[in-house]
Amino acid sequence: MHLEYGGVVPELASRAHQKNIVPVVSEAIRKAGIEKRDLNAIAYTIGPGLLGSLLVGSSFAKGMAASLNIPLLEINHMEAHILAHFINHALEDISFPFLNLTVSGGHTQLVIVENDLSMRVIGQTKDDAAGEAFDKCGKLLGLGYPAGPLLDRHAKSGNPKAFEFPKSSMQGFDYSFSGLKTAFLYFLRDEREKEENFIANNLNDLCASLQENIVDVLLSKLRKAARHHGIKSIGIAGGVSANSRLRSAFEELGKKEKWNTYIPDFEYCTDNGAMIAMSGYFKYQNQLFGSLRSKPLARLKI
Ligand code: KG4
Ligand code: ZN
Repeated sequence: MHLEYGGVVPELASRAHQKNIVPVVSEAIRKAGIEKRDLNAIAYTIGPGLLGSLLVGSSFAKGMAASLNIPLLEINHMEAHILAHFINHALEDISFPFLNLTVSGGHTQLVIVENDLSMRVIGQTKDDAAGEAFDKCGKLLGLGYPAGPLLDRHAKSGNPKAFEFPKSSMQGFDYSFSGLKTAFLYFLRDEREKEENFIANNLNDLCASLQENIVDVLLSKLRKAARHHGIKSIGIAGGVSANSRLRSAFEELGKKEKWNTYIPDFEYCTDNGAMIAMSGYFKYQNQLFGSLRSKPLARLKI
């Protein structure tokens, strides 16, 4: 739906949510082999995200919870990406505090996870998110939207050392990716002046080199934060953690640093309902119920 615009169009997204939410929820309940009356609570995303889409979800969740007379659970989207680790791990499997690099289309965060209910952001991007860097640079290469997964695929047959691009060096544990995008734009412009088909002739190498740059920047800050805080339990999560090079480089680094590493299964990296349900489970266990009065995007801690 968003492909022809090269990015998410908020109004189209919220209309699509409105159109699809009833059939999607009905199908999920049918596939799970349960009835609506079997539900104990309704977990929904309170933010961060696009307001129009969040409003559709929150209104629907509130209506459903009220009609079934069951509690609501308000879930933070970024916390849910992290709690996706527990879809395949028991709470006791991962020792706290653990450090997570959450990389999505809108966020890049280093988070210290004290436990399933308490998290603290220690560093984040000052401008573009890592997913945005993949998507925007991919767009310059003429790839579709979202470009991240396509770039990943082309990179598999490319040389990651073919081209070198500048690496941001932010202070502390923060990131910045907008400089890379600008450098990439001018690099392509200059090369295309010399060679008209430069992109087509070098697509795989361009993808591999760009990907290597982003992965390197992400992981060197993660390593710095892990060493600084003396944490050995380390995870990556969010849409960009589906990236094959990030996954393999993270595992390699983990071996060198003697970390216990965690990556959600591929299908739980990009946005999914299971991570929201998983987060809802922890809140439900602790009786942290939501309210019919809560507004999306209000009171978000991370
Ligand atoms: O978490 P997510 O599904 O949605 C947001 O919360 O933003 O993340 C989407 C982002 C997009 O920028 C997409 O291009 C990126 O994750 N992404 C990837 C890959 N799969 C998804 N980036 C690089 N390589 C991938 N394989
Ligand atoms: Zn996400």
